[in-house]
Amino acid sequence: MVRVENLTKNFLRNQRDFDAVNDVSLQVKEGEFAAVTGHSGSGKTTLFNMVAGLIRPTSGKVFIGDAEFTAMTEAQQAVFRNENIGYVVQSQSLLNNFTILDNICMPAYLSRSVTEFKERAVQLLTEIGLAELAGEYPRNLSGGEIRRVSIARAMLNRPQVLLADEPTSNLDSDNARKVMSMIRDISNSGTTVLLSTHEMEYLDYADTVIKIKNGRIE
Ligand SMILES: Nc1ncnc2c1ncn2[C@@H]1O[C@H](COP(=O)(O)OP(=O)(O)OP(=O)(O)O)[C@@H](O)[C@H]1O
Ligand SMILES: [Mg+2]
Repeated sequence: MVRVENLTKNFLRNQRDFDAVNDVSLQVKEGEFAAVTGHSGSGKTTLFNMVAGLIRPTSGKVFIGDAEFTAMTEAQQAVFRNENIGYVVQSQSLLNNFTILDNICMPAYLSRSVTEFKERAVQLLTEIGLAELAGEYPRNLSGGEIRRVSIARAMLNRPQVLLADEPTSNLDSDNARKVMSMIRDISNSGTTVLLSTHEMEYLDYADTVIKIKNGRIE
């Protein structure tokens, strides 16, 4: 479960401040798949970064399950995030000098809670039909394959929440649908999902659609 209460992020730009996220409250139930839509600059990534604890809100609270995430110290948040939140960031984030298998295993090197992570990584790759890419490097993968590997990596630690920021951008509709159905399966298996997109044609995969405009929920 993810609960956001009156979340605001104020940024300063050219001596003027503005609320990139403005008093947003929302709740995504356990196992629910919520899609956040809105134009470029509407505040989607800023919202996700606050839910993931990568940036501190100016005001407001984030709860993940029963835990008040925003009340934790940065160090506590880092531990909690690694165990409970999978985040597929908007930019390409696979490490180029590591194989696909090592990329997927990366969260395990930072966590003590995962054992037998290599088997889990291979199993995840197999589930998405990309097992033969385990020894490849990211530069030899297509954009769609990279997205699916990034999602698999986010799922390595079996997080209770998956955040996916525009996971279908720059993909053709075939690959976008593969990504969306992968995320639908993840949600069906009990993970709470928050996904952002500005592509309306894929919203039917989600249970709920949340519209955001100029930092506010519509
Ligand atoms: N660190 C920052 N300092 C100042 N302004 C910022 C900062 N980060 C984001 N912004 C601004 O906040 C607004 C919201 O940005 P955000 O990245 O959340 O939008 P978005 O909805 O994710 O857009 P896109 O669909 O293009 O990814 C934009 O106007 C952006 O320029
Ligand atoms: Mg964004």
